[in-house]
Amino acid sequence: MNEALRPAPVDLSTAMPCQLSVVVPTFNERDNVVALYRKLDAALAGIAWEVIYVDDNSPDGTSDVVRKLAAEDPRVRCIRRIGRRGLSGACIEGILASSAPCAAVMDADLQHDETQLPKMLALLESNAAELVVGSRYIEGGSAASFDSQRAGFSKLATELAKRLLRVEVADPMSGFFMIRRDRFEALAPELSTQGFKILLDVVATAHGSLRITEIPYTFGARLHGESKLDSMVALDFLGLVLAKLTHDIISLRFLLFALVGSVGVVVHFTGLFIAHEVLHWPFAQSQACGAILAMTSNFLLNNFLTYRDQRLKGFGILRGLLLFYLVCSVGLLANVGVAFSVYDQEPIWWLAGAAGALMGVVWNYAVSSLFVWRKR
Ligand code: GDD
Ligand code: MN
Repeated sequence: MNEALRPAPVDLSTAMPCQLSVVVPTFNERDNVVALYRKLDAALAGIAWEVIYVDDNSPDGTSDVVRKLAAEDPRVRCIRRIGRRGLSGACIEGILASSAPCAAVMDADLQHDETQLPKMLALLESNAAELVVGSRYIEGGSAASFDSQRAGFSKLATELAKRLLRVEVADPMSGFFMIRRDRFEALAPELSTQGFKILLDVVATAHGSLRITEIPYTFGARLHGESKLDSMVALDFLGLVLAKLTHDIISLRFLLFALVGSVGVVVHFTGLFIAHEVLHWPFAQSQACGAILAMTSNFLLNNFLTYRDQRLKGFGILRGLLLFYLVCSVGLLANVGVAFSVYDQEPIWWLAGAAGALMGVVWNYAVSSLFVWRKR
């Protein structure tokens, strides 16, 4: 770092206890790290603060830049997560690793207005609120940097969230907020680590028990790099709504897994038809060919969609595929076993078939999430 920019060394013996921890999730934000730090340093003069960058092992070396900064200023820390992805999970870990009574979350790319932080902190410290949301959708706020498509999606998701989850915040999708750490810690065990919508999750999980204030801000343009919000984020959002509506009984992952499974049935029959009717293979071989095709396509689709945040790559794909074959073979035995015993009690073919299929998909889902796409 340039000498002139080096902050005064902190004397730990007289240092004030930290008032505010700023948590910044990062993925490929190398060029924004120092710029944000400088802006924080300027905006938070007179406040005892720290910043925690939570980096998911960005290939662009973001964590190296943070570490260099941290070596010069102890108010800077880096949590580097390996083998994991997810904005919400990163924010949760960052806040739980913080020490100040108040924690803010903001983007690394300077889209959020750091000059609002002192005002937000004052609201929490005076106990006027327990959560302060930086809002684009109240008087004085704006999202001018959005293109019309993204603005439309953002509005739609906001409406859906407000109605379905009865969330009373004008901008529950905001990625910019500050919360009292003790209140956050109480909610943390129920929060989803998947997806982007940490604030919505916090507000929905609190069920009205948090005192919330919104303050307007202008969502600016990104400084360097590009947005990580893609069309898959819409899936995450639906998943969160579904999980909250069903009190975590149904997860989007399970629904996706079952959906992929039903695509697999179509693949199976197509394979069987081609092998048996077109190529005139014997039935047993044709059936096996259909099954292998279906398992393979299920594996690839699940790896691409259902488990995209834990996607297996390179050699891991082959290993995962073999494990998946094994899991599904046992699942098939469970399926047939359950179907037989139901049929024994109640000889209704479709009921027995459905019970068997449900058993199979639940088994395949549970066991493959344990062994094939296991959390590292
Ligand atoms: N650690 C980690 N892991 N960080 C991530 C990940 C991840 O998987 N994905 C994104 N980030 C970081 C980015 O590096 C950035 O600092 C911040 O999270 C937000 O990501 P952006 O890619 O900048 O998102 P955006 O600007 O398009 O979306 C923002 O606005 C939305 C509202 O429209 C975010 O603030 C969203 O949270 C917000 O909902
Ligand atoms: Mn951003």
